[in-house]
Amino acid sequence: MSKVYVFDHPLIQHKLTYIRDKNTGTKEFRELVDEVATLMAFEITREMPLEEIEVETPVTTAKSKVLSGKKLAIVPILRAGIGMVDGVLNLIPAAKVGHIGLYRDPETLKPIEYYAKLPADVEERDFIIVDPMLATGGSAVEAINSLKKRGAKNIKFMCLIAAPEGVEAIQKVHGDVDIYIAALDEKLNDHGYIVPGLGDAGDRLFGTK
Ligand code: URA
Repeated sequence: MSKVYVFDHPLIQHKLTYIRDKNTGTKEFRELVDEVATLMAFEITREMPLEEIEVETPVTTAKSKVLSGKKLAIVPILRAGIGMVDGVLNLIPAAKVGHIGLYRDPETLKPIEYYAKLPADVEERDFIIVDPMLATGGSAVEAINSLKKRGAKNIKFMCLIAAPEGVEAIQKVHGDVDIYIAALDEKLNDHGYIVPGLGDAGDRLFGTK
């Protein structure tokens, strides 16, 4: 069963409060999401493998550690996921960025993929899917399906706020995908919004509606 990690760092929790606030305007909302994504990237990379190399300091030769060349890719789910990409790239600038677009079939209500562009070497990369909100989990499950179908083996899912329903949906279908969140909220309402949540993440990021 996949694990759920709640990043309860005080800076993340503080910024998340202002992200939730309905009086936070588009510019500030976007900046805060960016900052929280950076802080979450710091936490999510905690287990990255290191290797020892030799380095010449001005004083002597030393053995010191560097990242062991693990290849990473970030995959935002369109459109709100885009708001988290730059924040992650602040800390992992060499990561490649794939994109997955999904729409909801009006009859079946199931998410259907309309766009997918991933780095060519899918099988060699570790993936972090980003989307600010994990609501029903439908899009997340489909995005993970899409990566796995193309050969991805190591996938993490990172979002700001999750509903218990979304976490359960991922765990049920993709027990190998760990979930990284800033907050686990109470529930979904009848319109599919997370409660208390932050409203529509895409609209608040892009100033639409
Ligand atoms: N997507 C959002 O943007 N907000 C929610 O509350 C649920 C899904």
